[in-house]
This record gives sequence, C-alpha cells and structure tokens, in this order.
Amino acid sequence: MSAISRQPSSIVLFGPPGAGKGTQAGKISQLTGKPQVSTGDMLREAVKHNTSLGKEAKEYMEAGLLVPDSIIIDLISERMKESDASGGVLFDGFPRTIAQAEELSLIANVSLVIMIQVPDEDIVERIVGRRMDPETGEIYHINFNPAPAHIESRLIQRKDDTEDTVRSRLNAYHEQTKPLSEWYGIFSDKTTMSIITVDGSGTIEQVAKAIESELGGL
Ligand code: AP5
Repeated sequence: MSAISRQPSSIVLFGPPGAGKGTQAGKISQLTGKPQVSTGDMLREAVKHNTSLGKEAKEYMEAGLLVPDSIIIDLISERMKESDASGGVLFDGFPRTIAQAEELSLIANVSLVIMIQVPDEDIVERIVGRRMDPETGEIYHINFNPAPAHIESRLIQRKDDTEDTVRSRLNAYHEQTKPLSEWYGIFSDKTTMSIITVDGSGTIEQVAKAIESELGGL
C-alpha cells in the first residue's frame, strides 16, 4: 500500500477510551509516515520505570482520571524535540483537554484530526476484554481480536482496564475531552486543518478501511 501523497504536518487521533485509537494507529502511521506518539504509552513507561513523573501520574491513571495538563504538556514538549518528530507526528490520546490543545497549537502544526466515534455501550466490553502483549506492544481482545495461542500465556491486562475504572475514564472523556471536538470544529473553520469522522463501531478491518478511504480523499 502506498503512503498518501499530501502529508499533513501532525495528525491528532481523537476518540473515547477503547475507540480503537491504539489499534488503528500503526496502520495510520504506515500510511502517513508519521510516528505514533501515545501519551498513554509514554505514561505507562514512566510508571513502569518508577520515574518521578511516573509516580505522580500513577494514581490518576489507576483512578481513571486525567493526568494534570502541566505534566502532559512537559512530556509532549520534550518528545517533540526528538529528531523523528521533525516531520510531524501522529498524536494518539493527546490532546485531551482544551488547555492541552491550546498548548499544542503553539508547538506543532496540526493539519488533520481523525475522530473515531464509538457508542459508550460498546466501550466497557472492549476495554475489559483487552489484552496486551508486553513483548511487542500488540493489542488484542479476548473476543474481537484473539491473540495467537502460543503467546496467550504472556498477555497482560492493563491495571486501568477494570469495569469501575472504565466508567471513570468515560466520565473524564465526556466532561473534559469531548468538548474538544467542538473546539477543533471552530479551530478548523479558521485554518486549513481538516477533520475526518469515522464510525468506529464496525470491525477492526472495517474501521481501518474507512480511515484509509478518508485519508485517500484528502
Ligand atoms: P490511554 O492509554 O490513552 O487510554 P485511552 O484513551 O483510555 O484509550 P485506550 O488505550 O483505552 O483505548 P484505544 O482507543 O487506544 O483503544 P484500543 O485500540 O486499545 O490513557 C490511559 C490513561 O493515561 C488515561 O486514563 C489518563 O489517566 C492518562 N492519559 C493519557 N493521555 C493523557 C492526556 N493527554 N491527558 C491526561 N491524561 C492522559 O482498543 C480497545 C480494545 O478494543 C482492544 O482490546 C482492541 O482489540 C478492541 N478493538 C479495537 N477496535 C475494535 C473494533 N473496531 N471492534 C472490536 N474491538 C475493537
């Protein structure tokens, strides 16, 4: 498959928890040539290595709350100094508040927002059934995307993938993150930024095809 010709500067992948952002990010990275920058993955790495940032972020993450904007903005500002970010990146799970989006607009040129929409009633099942391969970072689901049998024993479940925590994460999404879709709507009217909206409730392959076709139409 060939990369799309008109490369946007940076891309924001936006959607509720469990929408399939991480699942689709690899394919979008391939299509656009932009490296994936996932704040969730960066925070989990910091927690794993018990850094001071990780210690601070851990309690928010395990409670299903957003980590404070100042921590996230510092994390992203540092990441954007790395050489692979110079041609723009694919942000996955960032920005998540209007304050983060405003800061981002000062340090990067976002020319495309991909919004994946999934109804709340699908989210809990997706997240509670998610399993991760710690060796490859691959994302699986016990029913919707089962892992090959030979790696099943090494799969892990994220600490924040419990039913209670998912409900807190959904609340945080509705209260603090969803208003950003309107903010980006207003922002895009004043700039050349494009927004594409994709129905994320189909199968993984259907969603990937819908994104690819929208990207091809840009
Ligand atoms: P983060 O890691 O970003 O979690 P999230 O946004 O809650 O998103 P998820 O990773 O849960 O879901 P996803 O959309 O990537 O779905 P996935 O592809 O895995 O953040 C974790 C925490 O870190 C936050 O709660 C917060 O505390 C903190 N944080 C991170 N960024 C922050 C920020 N910017 N500001 C403040 N705090 C921040 O898919 C889910 C499951 O569904 C998988 O099992 C998958 O196989 C399955 N699946 C995917 N697509 C489909 C499909 N089409 N059909 C059926 N199943 C599917």
